[in-house]
Amino acid sequence: MFVPLSENDYMETLRDFDLVLFGGTGDLAMRKLLPAMYRRHAAGQFPATARILGVARGERSRESYIAEVEKSCREHAQAVFDASQWQGFAQMLHYAAVDVSRPESFGALAAFLQGREEVARIFFLSMAPSLFAGACDAIGAAGLATPESRVVLEKPLGQDRASAEKINQHVAAWFGESQIFRIDHYLGKEAVQNLLALRFGNALFEPLWRRGRIRHVQITVAETLGMEGRGPFYDQTGALRDMVQNHLLQLLCIIAMEPPTSSDPDAMRDEKLKVLRALRPIAGADVLAKTVRGQYKAGAVGGQPVRGYLEEEGVPPGSTTETFVALKAEIDTWRWAGVPFYLRTGKRLQEKLSEIVMTFEDVPHRIFQTTVGQHPNRLTILLSPRDAITLTVQAKSPGETMLLKPVNLSLDLVESFKVRQLDAYERLLTDIIKGNLTLFMRRDELDAAWRWIDPIREGWQAHDRAPRQYTAGSWGPSAATSLISRDGFDWNGEG
Ligand code: BG6
Repeated sequence: MFVPLSENDYMETLRDFDLVLFGGTGDLAMRKLLPAMYRRHAAGQFPATARILGVARGERSRESYIAEVEKSCREHAQAVFDASQWQGFAQMLHYAAVDVSRPESFGALAAFLQGREEVARIFFLSMAPSLFAGACDAIGAAGLATPESRVVLEKPLGQDRASAEKINQHVAAWFGESQIFRIDHYLGKEAVQNLLALRFGNALFEPLWRRGRIRHVQITVAETLGMEGRGPFYDQTGALRDMVQNHLLQLLCIIAMEPPTSSDPDAMRDEKLKVLRALRPIAGADVLAKTVRGQYKAGAVGGQPVRGYLEEEGVPPGSTTETFVALKAEIDTWRWAGVPFYLRTGKRLQEKLSEIVMTFEDVPHRIFQTTVGQHPNRLTILLSPRDAITLTVQAKSPGETMLLKPVNLSLDLVESFKVRQLDAYERLLTDIIKGNLTLFMRRDELDAAWRWIDPIREGWQAHDRAPRQYTAGSWGPSAATSLISRDGFDWNGEG
């Protein structure tokens, strides 16, 4: 039984705002952003004067845009959808046809925004990163970037370090760093914030959170989905840029960072930056030893036959884009020297599963018998499909002998609080309106992430090694298992 959110800061009414949603008819806007906005409206957080302007190239009437948004909110806001709340939300919605490559089309936008310079003005760029620079230049040249403006950039920001830097320079010509919100929606996930709470709200874990206590760390973000119509975008991107450069590295940062001095955005981001800068480079021949890239071929997921990546719509024949990456990262700091961090992510894997598993050192001397194999303590932070934390410890199995068996101390975070969890975008959108940058990536963080990622991609190209094939519905190429078993470990759940 869930009760509505009531005792937290999400009920506070936000300041007045105009949100301009570029890519306002796109997939992300329809599936995630607008339903998230609707939910915050239904929670009573938006002032009646706030406005949302969907922007896209095609001409369409305000009424037809509202009808489209209603359809997607009904589908994606699900249980929260309420016809009377919807009326209020529909009044906030507007539409304008704007082509970012034609600055002269910004007239309608300027007219819409005029006279509301004092409210938070948000330009949310939910579109291809190749359009970011042009959009910011056009916004700036039209005189629309007020001191109260914020610009929101969706990932992936660029294709590599150089292109990301170019985008950042254009954006910085019109917006200060404190006005730039680089989204990584993983940071908006309740489970990820719980990880911060676990580490920095409890004294228990800190003495154990280091080399000598932790043997290795695994981060898995596995998806069962394939391309879902995103073939052309994905083929230009690949799993390394789509998932590792941002989501997986951000999770790694939260696990590995030193305790920040406060929850102030820069205190947090300074610490994450130090981790990114301490990542040992993977370059040259190391790329072959420490990374595995894969591509799915036809198979079955959840009992249903699915086609291979090369048969997906919009994927060019012979593409070598990776749909799977596994790698071994090392962090050269006092805290983490010698503790490998194994990362893996892929499309069309066996299960949808996001988890972080920290395996502790084993006991130095065993006096009791255990069930088969070694069972060091393990802390599993499950981010998806549920939000849960499990500590695996050894307990005596009932009976005459002192036979130890692993058992789980489990904390189900949804059940414990019995409130509906906020979707990542609900949280991030309210933070943008409030101007809170803690959960957004700073320019130097992004740069450090690309600096580490680029040599991996270059290494793949230099060695001209095609991705290893894996059957859809499996756990990825067998080389990913060898990557970790060479060090004497197994991927969690696959041992
Ligand atoms: C997005 C990627 O950033 O994250 C997608 O572009 C991926 O390819 C998605 O499917 C995964 O997000 P989540 O929240 O479903 O784990």
